[in-house]
Amino acid sequence: SGKPVVILGVFVADTAYRADRQPRMGETILGNSFKLGPGGKGSNQAVAAGKLGADVTFLTRLGVDPFADMARQTWAGAGVKDAVIDTPESYTGAAYIFVEETTGNNAIIVSPGAAMMISPADIEANAGLISSAGVFVTQLEQPIDAALRALEIARGAGVTTILNPAPAAKLPDRIYTLCDYLTPNETETEELTGMKVSSIDEARAAAASLIEKGVGTVIVTLGDKGALLHSKNRSEHVPVVSAGPVVETTGAGDAFNGGLAASLSRGVEPLQAVRFACAVAGISVTRPGTAPSMPTLQEVEALLAQAT
Ligand code: RIB
Ligand code: NA
Repeated sequence: SGKPVVILGVFVADTAYRADRQPRMGETILGNSFKLGPGGKGSNQAVAAGKLGADVTFLTRLGVDPFADMARQTWAGAGVKDAVIDTPESYTGAAYIFVEETTGNNAIIVSPGAAMMISPADIEANAGLISSAGVFVTQLEQPIDAALRALEIARGAGVTTILNPAPAAKLPDRIYTLCDYLTPNETETEELTGMKVSSIDEARAAAASLIEKGVGTVIVTLGDKGALLHSKNRSEHVPVVSAGPVVETTGAGDAFNGGLAASLSRGVEPLQAVRFACAVAGISVTRPGTAPSMPTLQEVEALLAQAT
C-alpha cells in the first residue's frame, strides 16, 4: 500500500444530464438521461487512489444531509478513511454536469456548499494528519487560503506535495514554491501562464514558465494527447493508453491525479507514475460517471501489460 496519502478537497453529488446540446438561456430542452452519483474533484481523487490500494485519508467539510451519507458510503466502498468536519449550518454540495451525447465531453457548475467553509484554522487542526503523510494532494474547489496553509504544513514536514490547480484560478506566487508537482490541464495551464496551450510544444513552453515560478515538476494533462512531464532536467511526453471507446471524460483529471498520488506513494519514479496515471485515466473515460468509473489496480496493471 505504500506511504499514507492525505487529500484535502471537496465532495459533491454529481447530477449528470446527457443531451445532444446545452439549452440556450430561456430555453428548455429534453435530455436523454440523468444520473446521480458521487463526485467532487478531491473526493474523486481519493476514491481513485483508494481503489488502487493506497492508504488514503480525505479531509473535508460535509453538511448533515443525504448527500453526506452518499459521501461516506462512497469512501467506505473505496477503502478511503475520512477526516470530516461536520457542518450542519451549510449543505453538502452538488454539481450540474452537462454531458454532450456524441462526444462524452462536459460542462460543469459546481457549488461546494459546506466545503467552501474549509478554513486555515481547519487545516491547523489537522496539521498532524497532513504532516504524517507521504504524499499530500489538493485542488482549488475549496478556498485557496486553506490549500495554501495545507501545502505549507506538508512542505514543512517534508511531505511530497501535489497541487491539481482545478478549477482554473489565479494563484498567489508563493503557492508555486510549495508544489513538488503541479498538474494543470491545458485550459488551466493557459489560465496560470497566459500562454496558449494547444500542442505539446506549447505545453512545454508553458510548463517551463511554471518551473521558473518555483514548481518542482509540472505535469500538463493533455486529454487525448496524454500528458507532459516537465522539470528542470527532463521533459517527457507520455501518450494516452486507450482502453476502449470514450463514454464520459468527466473526472479523467481526477483519475490521473489519484493514480499519480497512489503510484508516488509506493516510491515509483515520476515518469513511470505518469504512465500509470495515464492508464488510470484511460480506463475511467470508458465508463460513465466520475468516482464510479475509477479502476482497480488489477485493471490498470492488465492495461499496462497489454500496452507494452
Ligand atoms: O473533476 C470532475 C468533478 O468536477 C466532478 O465530479 C464534479 O463534481 C466537479 O467538481
Ligand atoms: Na468516466
